[in-house]
Amino acid sequence: MKLLFILVVALVGSAIADDDADEKVWTEDEVEDILASATSDATATVPVLIANNGYTAETHYVTTDDGYILQMHRIPATPTSAASDDKPVVFLMHGLLSSSADWVIMGPGKGFAYILADAGYDVWMGNARGNTYSKNHTTLTDFTGKDFWYFDWHQIGYYDLPAMIDYALDTTGQEKLFYMGHSQGTTSFYVMASMRTDYNDKIKAMFSLAPVAYMSNLKSPVLQLAATFVTSLTSLFKLIGVYEFLPTSTFLSKVGATFCNDDALTQVLCSNILFMLAGYNKAQLNATMLPTILGHTPAGASSRQIVHYGQEVRSGKFRYYDQGWISNLWNYGSISAPDYDLSAITAPVHLLYSDNDWMAAVTDVTQLYSELGNPIEMYRVLDGKWNHLDYLWGINAKELVYDPIISMIETNYSD
Ligand SMILES: *[C@@H]1O[C@H](CO)[C@@H](O)[C@H](O)[C@H]1NC(C)=O
Ligand SMILES: *[C@@H]1O[C@H](CO)[C@@H](O)[C@H](O)[C@H]1NC(C)=O
Repeated sequence: MKLLFILVVALVGSAIADDDADEKVWTEDEVEDILASATSDATATVPVLIANNGYTAETHYVTTDDGYILQMHRIPATPTSAASDDKPVVFLMHGLLSSSADWVIMGPGKGFAYILADAGYDVWMGNARGNTYSKNHTTLTDFTGKDFWYFDWHQIGYYDLPAMIDYALDTTGQEKLFYMGHSQGTTSFYVMASMRTDYNDKIKAMFSLAPVAYMSNLKSPVLQLAATFVTSLTSLFKLIGVYEFLPTSTFLSKVGATFCNDDALTQVLCSNILFMLAGYNKAQLNATMLPTILGHTPAGASSRQIVHYGQEVRSGKFRYYDQGWISNLWNYGSISAPDYDLSAITAPVHLLYSDNDWMAAVTDVTQLYSELGNPIEMYRVLDGKWNHLDYLWGINAKELVYDPIISMIETNYSD
């Protein structure tokens, strides 16, 4: 097993950073200085971060049909935009290992939540079961055990999203909202909208930032590596944690040693599983913000979320969790796990994608687009090196992603 692991690491090996001869090489001293400059933002909760910037922050608790208690964060008003019942509602959903912090970490004028709030939207941010803000349940009390963690992004789509969307609509008295998701925040949307089709009517439009459904062309070497273990789940769970996704130090150091022989900054990022999975783009990373980013991520996930993605990488399908043929037959009535029916998604969907996204390859995004029930456009980010996490923290995210979304809404969906 160990030998196979090393072999596979060697086969898929490449550094997590896209190297470019022109780019800065970071020394250990420089990186130490940056890490030492961490402010209280690195540990503050999302509502505190928002309030510290003079924006109105609210916390709401939502209980799902299967008992998970989720925390939502809301920005109903900003220094330049008063609260009002008429504001269009936007619901932002984070990706794997992340939280509502994704949308506010960069601060006013840069974080998507602030930009939307300043533009007059009532901004709601979800938190999926199992992350920092949503580790809570009505009856389960052991948040380390199998019962709590027995879910993946299927349940996030099937239970969490509907509960949070209904809550935001009930509270605001509106009938529809704009849904914007990043990465797993898109995957879980496709699950919801294909299975609980009545929710399509509650969505004015859906914007997918780095859409993830089909994954067979994925570049991420670490996820490819995880995918090679999917047929031997026991071995994989031993490496990444049986219930909560907590990669062992063996896994991290082996992978780190292979992928992270670059400069001092890469070494630091390589201690963070999110960057290890998604890679990073030196040109868009503001190193000053690193302590705050690393303070909020990874924010927690179930091992089954990784395994389900690994299955998609291997099968080339976008389908339910593969439980093995006996359980599949028992639970799904077929030997293979069934496909999600993308054609059942009737909400208007915009896909924002890029050429260098390690998790969302252009061919996979194109296949998704061709199968959606109501695809509106494929919007290619105008930066050839734009990668997966740049949608959240990229230096040019406002110009390249957020402003175009807001102008699409103003042009196509304002009533
Ligand atoms: C969990 O939910 C209960 C019931 O809503 C609440 O009283 C408690 O504060 C929550 N715990 C955390 C850590 O959020
Ligand atoms: C990087 O972040 C710092 C701190 O927020 C900010 O002052 C600086 O302008 C940012 N740099 C770029 C290139 O955006």
